[in-house]
Amino acid sequence: MQKLIINGGKRLGGEIAVQGSKNATLPIMAAAVLCGGETVLHNCPRISDVYSAMKILTYLGCKAGFDGSGNTVVISSETISANDISDELMREMRSSIFFLGALIGRTGRCRITLPGGCDLGPRPIDMHLSALRKMGAVIREEYGVLDCFADGRLHGAKINLSFPSVGTTENIMLAAVLAKGVTVIQNAAREPEISDLADFLNKCGADIHGAGSSRITVNGTEKLHGCEYTVMPDRIACATYLACTAAAGGEIIASRCRPSDMESILGVFEQMGCIVHTHGEKIYFSANSPLRAVDPIRTMVYPGFPTDAQAFVMAALCKAKGTSVFVENIFENRYKHVDGLKRMSADILVEGKVAVIEGVPRLYGAKAAAPDLRGGAGLVAAALSAEGTSEISNIHYIDRGYEDIEKVLASAGADIKRE
Ligand code: EPZ
Repeated sequence: MQKLIINGGKRLGGEIAVQGSKNATLPIMAAAVLCGGETVLHNCPRISDVYSAMKILTYLGCKAGFDGSGNTVVISSETISANDISDELMREMRSSIFFLGALIGRTGRCRITLPGGCDLGPRPIDMHLSALRKMGAVIREEYGVLDCFADGRLHGAKINLSFPSVGTTENIMLAAVLAKGVTVIQNAAREPEISDLADFLNKCGADIHGAGSSRITVNGTEKLHGCEYTVMPDRIACATYLACTAAAGGEIIASRCRPSDMESILGVFEQMGCIVHTHGEKIYFSANSPLRAVDPIRTMVYPGFPTDAQAFVMAALCKAKGTSVFVENIFENRYKHVDGLKRMSADILVEGKVAVIEGVPRLYGAKAAAPDLRGGAGLVAAALSAEGTSEISNIHYIDRGYEDIEKVLASAGADIKRE
């Protein structure tokens, strides 16, 4: 198993070109199933979840792959020769659930097992299934296998989400674009990745309005076509590298990013005492003075503070002067990185949804295992600020969402290598 060896204490500097968004790329790759033609996606990150999505697309009869060494993915979905997805493929990531909406939308049939993904607590799909049933899908659940079919085409429906679930909103959009009639999603998720998916689908001939707001309307069309599209920047990966700089100290320019997606996170960094200037696709970020504790951070749906940023912002706060508090409102079990941070001598108390961080003067390198994708990134951020050497194992979690994390950080001056 590979691991990252990090010798902390080096300040970061230089420019980091931020990768394309994992959480926009994955639903858009599933959406390509609906197009029945060739789709060219630019700015896709070379991460294991994207390769997993390619495996599913290939299994379904599509052609899918990076064209050459860049970040462009080409998908041809003229023929769909299967509409079931093996348990092994479904378990590789949470985003496999998007193929449910896309396959039912395209073929009227889909047989899958429950999706995998980081263990952040029970991650049910009850809202996905309830919404698809409202659109006419017949879904039988037996022994963890979901056998779903629509008698002919799905039909539009008015769907009120009890919670603005990102994945549910996306899955409904994928099922609705080829359905008969109009679908309205009330209390829809507002994350920027939702708007990116809608922009992609509209470029393929769909008729979606209101993405980014709490009410999305989809007028079903007969057919979609392929298109060429550039995926949005990854706001969470960008925030990760800012948190690494806050933790280790230094000044970086994050380029190819979209600061307007990140206001809640940038506000927290400023509260910590970091200097943040934004201009177009660049963020000029410096952390040259000791960090300060911040007001309580409550993870919320967009545009609130994102749960995905909780772990690595916590890592940056471990040495901030004072007491910081997190309330994790989105997932039941998203503090598994705290053990690793405490191995590095962080002073953190977790009680249910609440984590209390007492700033300590220094952290010390330690061996720690990445518990999940963003928790692993948090351990890397802390290791960069620790004295001595850290070994982060289980980095396959980190590779699910970050393209060449060690190369990116080494290019900014970190002493980090993969073994
Ligand atoms: C997406 O997950 C992201 N993943 C997650 O990012 C992100 O943390 C999450 O949205 C919240 O922003 C992708 O986009 C691939 P949800 P998703 O449906 O769609 C509960 C990362 O690190 N829920 O908004 O699974 C659910 O259990 C990943 O990049 C139900 O109860 O998130 C959770 O508590 C981690 N029933 C809450 O809603 C359902 O049917 C939010 O889930 C669906 C969700």
